[in-house]
Amino acid sequence: MSRLVVVSNRVADPRKTAAGGLAVALAEVLNNTGGMWFGWSGKTIEPGEPGPHAQERPLHTHQAGPVKLVTMDLDRQDYDAYYGGYSNGVLWPVFHYRLDLADFDPAYITGYRKANQLFAQKLRPLLRDDDIIWIHDYHLIPLAAELRALGCTQRIGFFLHIPLPPPLILAAIPGHDWLIRALFAYDLVGFQSNADHEHFCRYVQAEAHAQDLGRGRWRAFNRTVQAGAFPIGIDVDEFVALGQASEGREMYERMTREYSRRQLLVGVDRLDYSKGLPHRMQAFRSLLQNFPENRRVATLIQIASPSREEVDAYTDILHEIESLCGSINGNYGELDWMPVRYMHRNVARPRLPGLYRASRVALVTPLRDGMNLVAKEFVVAQDPADPGVLVLSRFAGAAEQLKEALLVNPYDIEATANAINLALHMPIEERRTRHQALLATIRRCDVHWWCNTFLETLAHTQAEVSGTPWL
Ligand code: ADP
Ligand code: F6P
Repeated sequence: MSRLVVVSNRVADPRKTAAGGLAVALAEVLNNTGGMWFGWSGKTIEPGEPGPHAQERPLHTHQAGPVKLVTMDLDRQDYDAYYGGYSNGVLWPVFHYRLDLADFDPAYITGYRKANQLFAQKLRPLLRDDDIIWIHDYHLIPLAAELRALGCTQRIGFFLHIPLPPPLILAAIPGHDWLIRALFAYDLVGFQSNADHEHFCRYVQAEAHAQDLGRGRWRAFNRTVQAGAFPIGIDVDEFVALGQASEGREMYERMTREYSRRQLLVGVDRLDYSKGLPHRMQAFRSLLQNFPENRRVATLIQIASPSREEVDAYTDILHEIESLCGSINGNYGELDWMPVRYMHRNVARPRLPGLYRASRVALVTPLRDGMNLVAKEFVVAQDPADPGVLVLSRFAGAAEQLKEALLVNPYDIEATANAINLALHMPIEERRTRHQALLATIRRCDVHWWCNTFLETLAHTQAEVSGTPWL
């Protein structure tokens, strides 16, 4: 049987907590399939630090159960240009429809290409001829082209965990054609939603004049690539088991005891401007303003883990959230009731199911999101006899699947406040019916379904070693 080689910027020990959809999902997949997980070590080499040059630097190897983790360090200046610069200063904002936040500094693309070349040089000698290679996310779009340039003929798949915007937004990136051309070095390219896939199809037709070969196959740059939507899921059984384990149960009991006279709302996110946290806070403030019966009762617990603090837009959002939480608590709080409890840190994963289950409502209201796994985790953690309600942004990829959630436009603060009020007062029969339908969908399309469907499709793509889309 072929070995699975997964490549992503972020690599996490599958046995430890990680914040971020990619790390959580890949850890679950690899725990099951075994194989190799290759990526960045999380360590940067500062200028002037003694030691070998990047090309000669040894890799770090660590066996974590069935998974061999292999990681590499990056030089500080390369990392800054590749990760903070091009990946999170250009691709992340543009792919989340935020052209206003993009910084098209030409030095970033150079660092991005250099880091991808280094990934390819380091990975190439570790590969076997019959490996299946699965590359993840926007940090590594040109990696297949770099590997092919080094002679790799293996099947290579790519999955984009974040949204793909419409062609005219994508086309704002200087050198956007280079990025899309790089996708033609893959055999299969997967997106989170049908909307993202459709944007890809429209882009390659309009900008690359690709030929539509049918059944998701496109021909351009002398190569054929297959594309499709493969919505990512969670490991439902694992998350249920986590909820039944002692830490999950203790958390649930502690929260229900502590908030016995309150109704809890919960938000769990990385602190990212795409997650719509200021809009969410404003909607919660409108709820308290417009529906005063919720005062002294509704308590919002917002957990936001630190993320990408080296990028300016992330420090801006941090200050905005702190000031909004402070003003809501200052204006509406009572001696015995704090409307918002905000924590700027990670929660240990074993505690999450207990926190979700103790909450009557989850607020998952990103302005844009590839999928959003928190929405799925919340539903799975509920007591089916007395389930909570999911308030979900229509702009999360998850909204394509989770139609029975209360779907909201997070930019419409008043409408979101109305939906939150509806969720807090929803009759139990309606809560059960919605929950049952949501759970069935999440179970059917879990993380193993996602992985199997992608890899089976990849295995059946027509292998093609010819073509020269190399950059
Ligand atoms: P993203 O990949 O953009 O971070 P997702 O919602 O798809 O968003 O995935 C986030 C994952 O990280 C989920 O599994 C969630 O439980 C976890 N996570 C996010 N924020 C935290 C946090 N503050 N503490 C613990 N886990 C978190
Ligand atoms: O899921 C989207 C994503 O960008 C992943 O690629 C990443 O692992 C996660 O969010 C967390 O971001 P970062 O790796 O930058 O901390």
